[in-house]
Amino acid sequence: MSRHVIRPFEEADLPAAAGLLAERHQEHRKRHPLLPADYEDDRLALVEVTAAWESEGASGAVMVEGGELTGYVLAAPKPSSVWGPNIWIEAAGHAVREPEHIRDLYGAAAARWVDDGRTAHYVLVPDDPELIDAWFRLAFGSQHAHAVRPVPDTPIPAPRDLVVRRAARGDIPVLAELDLALPRHQALSPVFSAGELPTFEEALADWEESIDDQDYATFVAEYNGQVIGSSVGCSLDKSSSHNGLAKPDNAGFLGFAAVLPPARGLGAGRALGEAVLQWSAETGYTSVVTDWRVTNLLSSRAWPRLGFRQTFHRLHRLIGY
Ligand SMILES: CC(C)(COP(=O)(O)OP(=O)(O)OC[C@H]1O[C@@H](n2cnc3c(N)ncnc32)[C@H](O)[C@@H]1OP(=O)(O)O)[C@@H](O)C(=O)NCCC(=O)NCCS
Repeated sequence: MSRHVIRPFEEADLPAAAGLLAERHQEHRKRHPLLPADYEDDRLALVEVTAAWESEGASGAVMVEGGELTGYVLAAPKPSSVWGPNIWIEAAGHAVREPEHIRDLYGAAAARWVDDGRTAHYVLVPDDPELIDAWFRLAFGSQHAHAVRPVPDTPIPAPRDLVVRRAARGDIPVLAELDLALPRHQALSPVFSAGELPTFEEALADWEESIDDQDYATFVAEYNGQVIGSSVGCSLDKSSSHNGLAKPDNAGFLGFAAVLPPARGLGAGRALGEAVLQWSAETGYTSVVTDWRVTNLLSSRAWPRLGFRQTFHRLHRLIGY
């Protein structure tokens, strides 16, 4: 017989939920010490759970056992139409003592989400096999990877056959072409991403405006004198998709990389990624973060080879079929 009670999340649940989140994060940091230490502290975890609770349209559920809160889930919609009629459970939006219990919590909370017409569900889950397994048995699947690695401690040797250098104004047309190469690739099977595809003219105008922006380090790779790929490094602070518990302190960000289709597989992706790793080390960052669609057969193979280790899985479920 079940001894737990499940009821809607209330404001008074915030401190206990923060305690559970801090516990989860302590375990997570044993595997990934580059994740931010701050949120091992209940008071800082509280800031994150409070932000999740105060997000517009937030709702969720808690589990209480013998008067103690032992699990919670909290979600809110994102306004962007890219995600469909969505509800998002962010990194701070769930924690459970017993992984299996996330299924009861989701079961209670999701009824309202689906009644409200929110049928595209997203959740950011630490790479804890038991937790991932419990979410998988709620019909979620893996969509996106968040990953980190330390900066290299010694200079990376220059690649053979390729020249990697900082981009210059004269590279703008090929940089614009490369900007389209990523969304074009991700629109194809098996990614089928709904991301917007800018026009070549829009990409060109963007580069005309941003090429001298010192906050971004843009690299190009040349093969036989032709630019075949580019990458962009910046501070992780510039990224809107790595926040709170999923945002390592003092991190650089491999924010973009693409190689023109005929030149893929020659080692340019590695060389361009390594240029950002090297730049991050020289800039004084401790680690480098990147992310990828797990259905992208190219980046999902290239970035782990460069030493990136997955920290969080974004899982996705589309209700209705
Ligand atoms: C992702 C991308 C930038 C990688 O560039 P690339 O030039 O094709 O990659 P490389 O040839 O340098 O290969 C990188 C690593 O992945 C490995 N790799 C590539 N394909 C692989 C496969 N099928 N299985 C296993 N490893 C594979 C390579 O062996 C290499 O590792 P190594 O140097 O240790 O041998 C490029 O494929 C691309 O532009 N893809 C489309 C746009 C995109 O996905 N951008 C990234 C967005 S997150």
